[in-house]
Amino acid sequence: DKGNHRHFMQKEIYEQPEVVGHTLGAYIDMTTGRTRLPAGTAVDFAGVRRMAISACGTGFYAALTGRYYFERHARIACDLDVASEFRYRESPLDDVDLALFVSQSGETADTLASLRYAKAAGIGTAAVVNVQESTIAREAATAFPTLAGPEIGVASTKAFTCQLTALAALSIHAGVARGALSGEQEAELTRALSEAPRLIAEAFRLEAQIETLAHQMATYRHALFLGRGSSYPLALEGALKLKEISYIHAEGYAAGELKHGPIALIDETMPVVVIAPYDGVFEKTVSNMQEVAARGGRIILLTDEKGAAAAPVAAMETLVLPTMPDILTPIVYAVPLQMLAYHTAVHMGTDVDQPRNLAKSVTVE
Ligand code: F6R
Repeated sequence: DKGNHRHFMQKEIYEQPEVVGHTLGAYIDMTTGRTRLPAGTAVDFAGVRRMAISACGTGFYAALTGRYYFERHARIACDLDVASEFRYRESPLDDVDLALFVSQSGETADTLASLRYAKAAGIGTAAVVNVQESTIAREAATAFPTLAGPEIGVASTKAFTCQLTALAALSIHAGVARGALSGEQEAELTRALSEAPRLIAEAFRLEAQIETLAHQMATYRHALFLGRGSSYPLALEGALKLKEISYIHAEGYAAGELKHGPIALIDETMPVVVIAPYDGVFEKTVSNMQEVAARGGRIILLTDEKGAAAAPVAAMETLVLPTMPDILTPIVYAVPLQMLAYHTAVHMGTDVDQPRNLAKSVTVE
């Protein structure tokens, strides 16, 4: 049931404050500010120094963001692969302490095959899964839940932000277990993370502006998405969302890679979505933004008030989000990217919930 919403995708975008809140509740004791592992799950992160993480599609982009969290909060080195490569790459797993998988459906064939590969190699396994009765949830030694509820729209939205939430909380838990975070740091990070539902709801206020912008977006044939640091996986996710439902060709790049090739594409027919919260890499990202502006590229800037004030060049459109701690930017900035893809697709008249050639769960390799 879509309720008042025109599409499941829109309904699921709007469910995010609630389901991210549920997911937070499974991993954080709100009265003490301490992290915990959900009932029935167990991983001794104290002994984990290196993890291999794999997933497909949007789950892979959540995993890429998870690497920033685990490396920053827990000093756990993370090897990342799309599941279809992990399975066949035959990487030596000798010094991998835990293989982690991320899947909404829990049925994705390549992710399941990778899980079985890791188990056969004798590595401890864990999965972040949304469907608790799924094959991956059953076969992984531990299944960490995301509490997104059923996701119907083919383009993943709420499952993604719940995956980010679970990975962020797990990284804090692992940081404490490994002695990389003090109890005070844990409390500060969980306090910050607990603000996610409120800030996602604030991001909804951009919807009217995004809907107007989407009219323009719908006139382009291509788009680039740029981000640096933990905004880089979001650039990949923003591009994936746009291409899968609007069929506009979109690519995500690490902002620093722009000058190594994609800059050749920039002219006035190329919109460039720059994801740049005012964080430690902001200055570097905006210097890439200047390179785009100098070549006539149309910039759509996602930032906060400080970022908007400090941006050196005028953007075609600036979407201003509240100021927030670093741990929250991937979760909250995902929302305007979802809305941009959604409204662009609606303007173009595509089948938003059932895009051509796509299935909700890919059970063939
Ligand atoms: C994108 C999308 C797909 C899935 C991918 C993995 O919006 O939905 O890219 O993320 O097929 O699916 P799960 O997470 O079910 O393993």
